[in-house]
Amino acid sequence: HAEEKQQLYNAHELASRWFHHVLMSTEQGRPALEYLRSRGFSDKLISTFQIGYAPQMWDALTTFLQKREFALPLMEKGGLVAFHEERNQYYDRFRDRIMFPLHDEQGRIVGFAGRAIGDIQPKYLNTSETPIFHKSRLLYQFHEAKSTIRKNNQIVLFEGYVDLIKAWEAGVHNGVASMGTALTEEHVKLIRRYASRVVICYDGDDAGIEAAYKSLLLLERAGLAVNVVMLPDRMDPDEYITKYGGECFRHEVMHGAMSAVRFKLLYLKRNFSLHSEDGKLRYIRSALRIVAALRSPVEREYYLKELAEEYNFSLDTLKQELYALLRSSQ
Ligand code: GTP
Ligand code: MN
Ligand code: MN
Ligand code: MN
Ligand code: MN
Repeated sequence: HAEEKQQLYNAHELASRWFHHVLMSTEQGRPALEYLRSRGFSDKLISTFQIGYAPQMWDALTTFLQKREFALPLMEKGGLVAFHEERNQYYDRFRDRIMFPLHDEQGRIVGFAGRAIGDIQPKYLNTSETPIFHKSRLLYQFHEAKSTIRKNNQIVLFEGYVDLIKAWEAGVHNGVASMGTALTEEHVKLIRRYASRVVICYDGDDAGIEAAYKSLLLLERAGLAVNVVMLPDRMDPDEYITKYGGECFRHEVMHGAMSAVRFKLLYLKRNFSLHSEDGKLRYIRSALRIVAALRSPVEREYYLKELAEEYNFSLDTLKQELYALLRSSQ
């Protein structure tokens, strides 16, 4: 129902402002604010992204919403409160968490990601599916980034909320973050409406590399041109920016992204033990399959030359092997 949805949008907007107030101006919010500051968040950055804090209480938001005459059963449907069967009462779903409001394409707040302070599990608690929140369609900060995305014909994909925020502060304004690691077909459709070039900038750890590979294939299948930034030492963008600074990061994103082929070759390499002869030969053959899939002869030769030099083969030998591959796949 349109009216119910409108109520949920209103409740989220109010809740978000209240969480922000609790964070910035109350004693309860102090430890959360200290935590954010220790992670390099300025007050300006906190306001820009409307970050807030849900206090460590069972009924703080519940009471707040009730006073403003929101129907609690509807608030439960919207994921803001939960219902306790035995006690027969509603209670706050997010407690003692730093709150990141999640906006839809039109900029309406439709959900929250709540980060635990410190090492409590789960690290992030997100709104689950509701009448207004659809995780598989939502990209964090798309509503703010979309004009820059269209202007640059390029979008930068991050894994984490914090990564996106720090990248934005570093001057990367065409970034969005998927909720967790899995990019969906629906995300890809949304992206295609705004840009034809994508830069994947996920975490540099194994999970990030795996996710980048999956996203890359999905995006390429949709006809998008993809590049990948691989950060060193398993760092995520936030850690990289903290260590090397925003200027350095922006440069990485704009000039340091590798081609899709190069990323595929690196990804492939991880699965072979290149110390053995056998492993090396099997890697070369698999690598040639990736090169063979390229349409441009110039690009093919470019990567063939690299492989030839790296593994000490003649270009001719690799070309012969490549043509054999192409013939057998026709
Ligand atoms: P920080 O530790 O705050 O810097 O988070 P991060 O973004 O570096 O987290 P991580 O690399 O572990 O995960 C990347 C993204 O996956 C997060 O931003 C979340 O969107 C999601 N994620 C991580 N942990 C959880 C979790 O426990 N539950 C859910 N639902 N999502 C998570
Ligand atoms: Mn807003
Ligand atoms: Mn990670
Ligand atoms: Mn991370
Ligand atoms: Mn991180």
